[in-house]
Amino acid sequence: MAGSETTVLKLGGSVVTDKDRPEALDGPALDAAADAIAEALAGGDVSDLVVVHGGGSFGHHHASEHGVSKTEGSGDATAAVEIHGAMKTLDDFVLARLHDRDVPAVPVHPFSAACRDEEADLTLMTEQVETMLGEGFVPVLHGDVVAHAGEGVTILSGDEVVTAVAEGIDADRVGFCSTVPGVLDADDAVISEIRSYDEVADYLGESDAIDVTGGMAGKVRALLALGAPATIFGPDDLRAFLAGEDPGTRIDGQ
Ligand code: IPE
Repeated sequence: MAGSETTVLKLGGSVVTDKDRPEALDGPALDAAADAIAEALAGGDVSDLVVVHGGGSFGHHHASEHGVSKTEGSGDATAAVEIHGAMKTLDDFVLARLHDRDVPAVPVHPFSAACRDEEADLTLMTEQVETMLGEGFVPVLHGDVVAHAGEGVTILSGDEVVTAVAEGIDADRVGFCSTVPGVLDADDAVISEIRSYDEVADYLGESDAIDVTGGMAGKVRALLALGAPATIFGPDDLRAFLAGEDPGTRIDGQ
């Protein structure tokens, strides 16, 4: 059992929403994820858990409508509030499904807790997350808009939130539940472990390419730099991850 380990779990937007229709939840998938989380907490498999969810058909739809991306900003308050509002709507669904299962989930909206400087370096406040964990809550964060010096607001991806919160609270384990079962090699087989970028450069491409789309190359590079092991797995493996196993691909650059 995990003892007092701190775990950060990302639920990909494509896992919990129907990406083909604007603002559409994937109810059964969210229920399955909430069941797995509730059971892991009740069974003591995880103690301190932080959940982060992506935008899926909620955030991305409004972001592209307003032409806002991780690098292209907007100074339009209406755009900022609409994108943020869509993410809060999705967050309310996530919180409600967790509450239905007695998971003590509480919201943390990154728009009010983060900013980017002119070099696009992110600062995310995490003292409140630590206090929430200490009080027995399950903080739930999400991809959002973020005030960005010189840009207005830009998009803050859920993946960036995961790495920032994991660093801020010194997490022990990080998991990404996405629609793919892990990082795939040239034969589409799941690579079980990655310890350096060189091992996978042939499949994922140039390691110095700036990745603005949140693709796998950027994700692997960011996770190799993280101070905790991270695991990428599909929805069917969420229970195994929460039970302390390493399904899918384990990424450990330490
Ligand atoms: C996107 O977060 C947030 C917004 C568009 C506001 P992510 O980029 O992490 O979402 P998914 O997981 O890919 O859907």
